Amino acid sequence: MVIETEVGRLVKMEILHLLKFSDNFIGVEVHVLVNGKYVKLNYANDVFVQILRKLQQKEVSEVYINEDDCKRIVEEIKQSLSEQSLNDSKLDQAKRVEIVSAALDTVKGVINQLGVEPETVKLLKTINTRAMALLQDSPSLLAFIREFKKNCSEEFLLSILTNYIMSLMIDKFPWRSAQVKEKGALASLMCDMTLKPEDFAELRAWKTSGGKLSSRLKMHPADIANKLKKDKLLIPIETITIIEQHHEFPDGSGFPYGINANRFNQLSAIFIVAQQFAERLHEARYDYDKRSAIIKDIRERYSSKVFDKAVDALTIVVG
Ligand SMILES: [Fe+2]
Repeated sequence: MVIETEVGRLVKMEILHLLKFSDNFIGVEVHVLVNGKYVKLNYANDVFVQILRKLQQKEVSEVYINEDDCKRIVEEIKQSLSEQSLNDSKLDQAKRVEIVSAALDTVKGVINQLGVEPETVKLLKTINTRAMALLQDSPSLLAFIREFKKNCSEEFLLSILTNYIMSLMIDKFPWRSAQVKEKGALASLMCDMTLKPEDFAELRAWKTSGGKLSSRLKMHPADIANKLKKDKLLIPIETITIIEQHHEFPDGSGFPYGINANRFNQLSAIFIVAQQFAERLHEARYDYDKRSAIIKDIRERYSSKVFDKAVDALTIVVG
């Protein structure tokens, strides 16, 4: 959302994003909201990061930047993801992973504020293509995780793992195509885009111990889907359906709507199974020997026709 203020058109931005991509943000005008007024911060370029860290220490998590700066940053991210920039021989693989991960975090932040636009959807697709290429350059999926988990956010790692596994699973179906894979990939990149790191911790705690889930967390699949429905010409309906259903279970015990088994299509089921596998492998600290136990657990929890087919595909894919 763009906020009209006495100092211009401002967009809310999480400090976390500004810090992750600080090279691109240096020089950007930053405002903080103090007693209902937007106050411009004074800083020299070299203290930009320190000032933002100090704000974080005071438990300020968001600041405001000019709408034009926000668009400029999107342009800079696009540049940094171009094949020419990313394949620069001066960059090592770890730095490339870091750039793609930070790009995803920032683009999600921009979409949260400004909604989806053709440019940001294109960027999400580029991020996925670049991430898949980086994965393929690694000797194995697990080697990639071991080597690069320090260079990227947990959500980035889980998203690209989901996409990689999902893409291999889709190949086991006669209707496989690059377009179908892209629809799933977009869902994976956006399905939790309104959540913060502490929200993931709350969700994990809820999964293991149950109890009450806050309504904001419970409604995040519907909230994000509704936001994207406004721009349905940009986001495929299959992507929106997956986002809406990614925490549902075929026995009706999921959220936000508690839908039953016959409401899931095959692509949704494949996505959910791939995402569950990635998530549980992460919880098992990437101990690949646990894959059979994880698959058995998913098969029991998601028993129904379309999910059975998805789990069969997963079993072939992960061996
Ligand atoms: Fe979610």
